[in-house]
Amino acid sequence: MSFVNENFLKLQDSYLFSTIGKKVAKFSEENPDKKIIKLGIGDVTRPIIPACKDAMIKAVNEVSTEAGFRGYGPEQGYDFLRDAIAKNDYKDRGIDIDVSEIFVSDGAKCDCGNIVDIFSVDNKVAITDPVYPVYLDTNVMAGRTGDFDENSGTFKNIVYLPVTAENDFKPELPKEKVDMIYLCFPNNPTGTVLGKEDLKKWVEYAKENDSIILYDAAYEAYITEKNIPHSIYEIEGAKDVAIEFKSFSKNAGFTGIRCAYVVIPNGVKGNTKSGEKVALNKLWNRRQCTKFNGVSYITQRAAEAIYTEEGKKQVRDNIGYYMVNAKIIKEGLEKAGFVTYGGVNSPYVWLKVPEGMTSWEFFDVLLEKVNVVGTPGSGFGPHGEGYFRLTAFGNVENTREAVKRIVDYFKK
Ligand code: MLT
Repeated sequence: MSFVNENFLKLQDSYLFSTIGKKVAKFSEENPDKKIIKLGIGDVTRPIIPACKDAMIKAVNEVSTEAGFRGYGPEQGYDFLRDAIAKNDYKDRGIDIDVSEIFVSDGAKCDCGNIVDIFSVDNKVAITDPVYPVYLDTNVMAGRTGDFDENSGTFKNIVYLPVTAENDFKPELPKEKVDMIYLCFPNNPTGTVLGKEDLKKWVEYAKENDSIILYDAAYEAYITEKNIPHSIYEIEGAKDVAIEFKSFSKNAGFTGIRCAYVVIPNGVKGNTKSGEKVALNKLWNRRQCTKFNGVSYITQRAAEAIYTEEGKKQVRDNIGYYMVNAKIIKEGLEKAGFVTYGGVNSPYVWLKVPEGMTSWEFFDVLLEKVNVVGTPGSGFGPHGEGYFRLTAFGNVENTREAVKRIVDYFKK
């Protein structure tokens, strides 16, 4: 007889974005004449930048020859890409990251989810609330939580750190000792950021408590303000306590191509029950060699092209395009009396739903009355209730149209 991993049964019925997808599909089927504008899931819409397209075509031609054929690549990624990452994302910013500390992968979602493999089930986990659901759900699956409590909307044995307008979306340090801390900045879903001083507190906390920070910097390329850290390693001491996740999805439009990387500095160590220190880099390397066969050569050549001069310019243009949308959403809604957050260093605008409505009620009104799809804040955690997320990843005409529809409807 086979037994299932019963931790999966503790999870909510479906992943947030699947629930939304199903609701939208049903509405669309019942109302085929309606033009729905989707500003829900954070999926990009701009085409692959020419630098990456050209690099992919070149790589396809190369592997189609006897001399250029590539089979399995290194599980950690090809050195040409790891070198480009170490130089452009770290060295040029004054951060020393060795190539051996970089692991190329097929996505930050996979990395954030898979990383739990190398941690003991006994670790106490802290997440911000609201939060990108992957951090929580993967820990539920791994058995690091208790049951779901319907009343509070939280899982037992998880430390939730509220991030709301009341605390300026800055999580407070946990009152109890935690072992694994998930931080995502610029934040998904709130679109808000932490300054260096704020982040320093977390690094100090992790050092004092021998905890590990799992830092998701997938939206780093959207930072427009000065003095906002682009990497947690800008903070002194972070190389001893933090793992950083980065993605090519949101900057270069790789949501469909799939390429990302995780940095695990050699100084980041966990403990065994018998008191030994173990390098997490070594464990992750072992995990990847066993469970992963690397990202395709063609994809990695495309990712490398992001770091060429024309690649960098094209990425900047793409980001500029999306940030115009963020401005349209933010300014348009604010003019209409909505209170908004984020959208300045992030492609996400987080807004307060009208008084007396829940996040899901607002979702339904937007879908049914103005045919705009967003993401209800409560889907990201109980402290997301009363908020709503719109993404700037649509095309500019649709974004303008969506904002106009929302504003016109709520003016009534
Ligand atoms: C989101 O909408 O939050 C993103 O699409 C999540 C992701 O990148 O997986």
